[in-house]
Order: sequence, then C-alpha cells, then structure tokens
Amino acid sequence: MSILVTGGAGYIGSHMVYELVDARESVVVLDNLTTGFHWAVPGEAKLVVGDIGDDALVKDVVRKHQVKAIIHFAGSIVVPESVADPLGYYLNNTVKSRALIAAAVASGVGQFIFSSTAAVYGAPRQVPVQETAQLEPMSPYGSSKLMTEIMLRDTSIAHDFSYVALRYFNVAGADPRGRTGQSTKGATHLIKVACEAALGKRPAMDVFGTDYATRDGTCIRDYIHVKDLARAHVSALEHLRGGGKSEIFNCGYSHGYTVIEVIEAVKRVSGQDFPVRFAPRRPGDPPEIVADSSKIRTNLGWQPQYDDLDRIVRHALDWEDRLSRLKRNAEPVAPVGA
Ligand code: UFG
Repeated sequence: MSILVTGGAGYIGSHMVYELVDARESVVVLDNLTTGFHWAVPGEAKLVVGDIGDDALVKDVVRKHQVKAIIHFAGSIVVPESVADPLGYYLNNTVKSRALIAAAVASGVGQFIFSSTAAVYGAPRQVPVQETAQLEPMSPYGSSKLMTEIMLRDTSIAHDFSYVALRYFNVAGADPRGRTGQSTKGATHLIKVACEAALGKRPAMDVFGTDYATRDGTCIRDYIHVKDLARAHVSALEHLRGGGKSEIFNCGYSHGYTVIEVIEAVKRVSGQDFPVRFAPRRPGDPPEIVADSSKIRTNLGWQPQYDDLDRIVRHALDWEDRLSRLKRNAEPVAPVGA
C-alpha cells in the first residue's frame, strides 16, 4: 500500500516525501520534472516521470503500487505568471487536477489531500482570516486552486471519496537536515530573494510598495516553515485514514511580518548587509494576509515546531548556500552525514 505524491520532486512536495519516508511509509512520486528535480526525491521513494493529466499512467501507477491515498502538489504557483497566462494555469491547476481526481475515483482511491492556497481569499476584509471568510481570489492562480477545491467538494458528496484541502500561507525555509529546499531558478518569493541577495547571488533587491496601511508601510504575510507544513499533511492523512470527514484548513502561524522585518531578519541571521531599493507596489499584492489557524490546531492537533522567523531564515540560507556549491546540472552537493 502506497501514498502517491504528485509534484514530489518540487519544493514543498520533496519535503513531504522526506517526511513520509522518514515515517517508513511507501511512497511513489509522479512528477513531470518541469520545475522539480530528480535528485530532490529520496532514494527510498519511487519516482515516475510523467503527467498528472495522463489518465492511463495515473491508473497504472495506482494499480501497480496499490495506492490508497494521493497528496497532490503538482501545479503552477507563480501569481504574476498566472495573470499573464491564465489558460496555462487553468490547464495545469484545474483541468489536470480534474483528470487526477477522476482517475482516483475510477481506481477506488478514497483519500486525497490537496495543496490549496491563501490566494483563494484575495485581499481578506478581516485578518487573521478564517476558513469561512469570503472567497474572492485576485488572480487566475487563486481561481484555479479554488476551482479544484469546488471539484473536490462535489466529488466527495457524489462518491466514496474524502479530502482535506490545506490553504497554505507563505511557505519558506528548508529541511532542517539540509536534504532539500527551494531550488527553483529565477525565484520571486521574498525569503528566497533576500537570501540570494545576502549570499551575493544578486546585487540588490526590491521592496514592492512602501505606502500600505501597515506598521511600516510594507505588506504583511504569515510565513510558515515548510517542515511544519509537511507535518500538517501528515496530520491530515491520519485524519482521513481514521475515517475523518472532508475538511478545509488554513496553514499558517496566525501572526505576520512586514517585508522590511523579513529583510532585517535575513540581514541579522546572515550577518550580511545588502542594498535594498524601495520600488512601486507589485500588482495584485494584498496589503495583509495572516491565517487564523485555530481550526487545524483544534481539529487535527497540529502543533508547529518552527514558528520562529530567524530559524526559517537560517534554514533557507543554509539551503541557498548548499545550492551555490552546485556540482553539475543543479545537483547540490550531498548533505553532510547523508
Ligand atoms: N516582495 C518584495 N520583494 C521581492 C519579493 C517579494 O517586496 O523581491 C514582497 C511582495 O510584494 C509581497 C511579499 O514580499 O508583499 C511576499 O511576496 P511573495 O512573492 O514571497 O509571496 P506572495 O505573498 O505574493 O504569495 C505567496 C505564494 C502564493 C500564496 C500566497 C499566500 O506565492 O502561492 O503567498 O499569501 F497564495
């Protein structure tokens, strides 16, 4: 009996796979390696290179590996890119998720965990934002994920199929043991960009917007360590395995930091100063988004262990440093003691 992890060669997916193999679960990864890396998948997991929209392949993998649960990460994740290419995002995130869900139902896989996003809320009227808040995505990315949530809800009513959708806030950090991390080239996410600047991989960085109605004028986000996020999936899996009903949970820490506070943390932890330019607002950025995470804490007993910005930054920096010592083809040097 196995767990199928789609997108398991990517940033969050690879942390999930490590979490599962560390717990001695049998794992099969399905990833088309568009943005993922084969080396990010631990040797204990089986990697199948292919597409989640390939119905015959998914059914074959489910049968061969006796898949009982699917954890679905595969998809496109860059908000501005989704504005430029909405149909590409609806294809990758919505149409292909529909194919995956259909293959799951046809193959009798009744447990499904979905990577959703805080982007389904748009610019929330109240923060911290609860799961019951109005859903008003501000980008095709957010809409593409919300559509999948709706398909899951309706499928769970019609079929013997239960799901948990986890709405991620701002995911950052890396495996504390240095085995995987955020490796995408041309990254746009704040903590990765700031770590690259600290390590001299870019000459400077921009702060997008300094005139928001926040404590220092820059946007506030709720940064969650990727390891705590992976553990939230483990709790969700236990919930479904125990016969728990379909649920949606926010995944964040319930407090936020401004862009300037994050940059200060990166400078403090790295001991490096780097030039920071004040730039205009980035289109589509909500001023403040922070999770109310009481539901997942209460219902699943989830207790974060890395709720500490400096620690998140430390792990992100360590991974960024490891990445700089690339051997060949973006393959990081083996972690010490691995
Ligand atoms: N920012 C900068 N400079 C940079 C990069 C980012 O000032 O070089 C700012 C952004 O303008 C924003 C904040 O830092 O105010 C965070 O931006 P990110 O790009 O790191 O993340 P987002 O909040 O835009 O989006 C992320 C995920 C989404 C998810 C969302 C939920 O990418 O998938 O968090 O809050 F939906």
